[in-house]
Amino acid sequence: MEKLAINGGKSVRKEKLWILKPYFGKEETNAASRVIKSGIVEGGNKISEEFEEKLAKYLGVKHCIFLNSCTAALHLALILTKSFNGELISPTYTFTSTAMVGLHNKLNPILADVEYETANLDVNSFEEAITKKTRAVMPMHFAGHACDMDRINKIAKENNIFVIEDAAHAIGASYKGKKLGAISDLGCFSFHGTKNLVCGEGGALVTNNDIWAEKVHILKEKGTKKHFFAKEKDRLGRTFEAVSAGFSFIQSDILAAIALEQLKKLDKMNGMRDSIAKYYNSKLSKLSLIKAPTIKEYAKTNWHLYMIKVPKEHKDFIIQALNKEGISANIHYKPLHLHSLYNKLGYKKGDFPNAEKVFDTYVRLPLYPGMTKKDREDVVHAVDKVVTYINEKF
Ligand SMILES: Cc1ncc(COP(=O)(O)O)c(C=O)c1O
Repeated sequence: MEKLAINGGKSVRKEKLWILKPYFGKEETNAASRVIKSGIVEGGNKISEEFEEKLAKYLGVKHCIFLNSCTAALHLALILTKSFNGELISPTYTFTSTAMVGLHNKLNPILADVEYETANLDVNSFEEAITKKTRAVMPMHFAGHACDMDRINKIAKENNIFVIEDAAHAIGASYKGKKLGAISDLGCFSFHGTKNLVCGEGGALVTNNDIWAEKVHILKEKGTKKHFFAKEKDRLGRTFEAVSAGFSFIQSDILAAIALEQLKKLDKMNGMRDSIAKYYNSKLSKLSLIKAPTIKEYAKTNWHLYMIKVPKEHKDFIIQALNKEGISANIHYKPLHLHSLYNKLGYKKGDFPNAEKVFDTYVRLPLYPGMTKKDREDVVHAVDKVVTYINEKF
């Protein structure tokens, strides 16, 4: 048995393997540089429009609006659907944005439990959380694995509730052949530095609703119709008309240029993730103690995250030991009901057993498109080393 680095042995790697890395080439640098040199760097110009058109086409949806974050997209989705003064249902196992945006609209975040296997919104828990005050639900496709959207959409329709997909993790993934983010009322994406399509910070709102699409162009631009004048070559033509209250949620064309290059290679990048994940699945499923991710028959994942399941009593040790071996490993989310913001709203430990089990047993391993053959072999080697030690020791 190899001596673990945490016990003074030699680590699998000298230099730590990152848990994620954006996949940038000279295309992104050149595209951003072209926009900078053009002198037209604010948002809503040609490159942003091209990105919006191409992403809408890729997703099979009528409208896409490029924004400066997914949080902005979630916030605007509530405004467009007039979801005010009531309740918003969110899974507890998600990033705070999913539930928090409701607070801006006087919507009480109503948390629901997740299914243990995928960490996605549990449909029964969602149904139980519905009241007369429910305005919207935000299913979040954790790790790029689809929620059960047919069941969620059906229940929502029966109860007159809007469905806003939090597809922050999910670009390029699908449910029964349909692209995630594009199979409910509205979909929200993130292009934050940690996501599958990266432009630094950024997001998009997608919908098939023409009226909402027109409104969101105004809302993102401080409540003005400035966007519609932006196509003029002579920039003196850029006047604006203030027509409503609004936000500054527009995104720069510099970042649109980067996003556009990333979109061109999105399928290739997701394909690279897929082959690494398949390698992990084949190797890690042979090891005792740990379980590879569950993929439901309706889901085609984009492998935004690779999460293994480990015994609760060994989780902390496994994370520490892998990090000492030079392999980044971590948890992903602490469920929302365990955070102070949500404690103040009345939630407490014990409220959502499955989400707590996910928190106690899911461990994230490195997965990103630029990983080499040696990188992935090192990950498997380190996991094997740690599992072998635990098996012998306990
Ligand atoms: C599930 C989920 N929703 C929303 C967000 C917010 O995304 P952004 O940083 O683009 O606002 C994140 C960010 O990581 C996320 O993971």
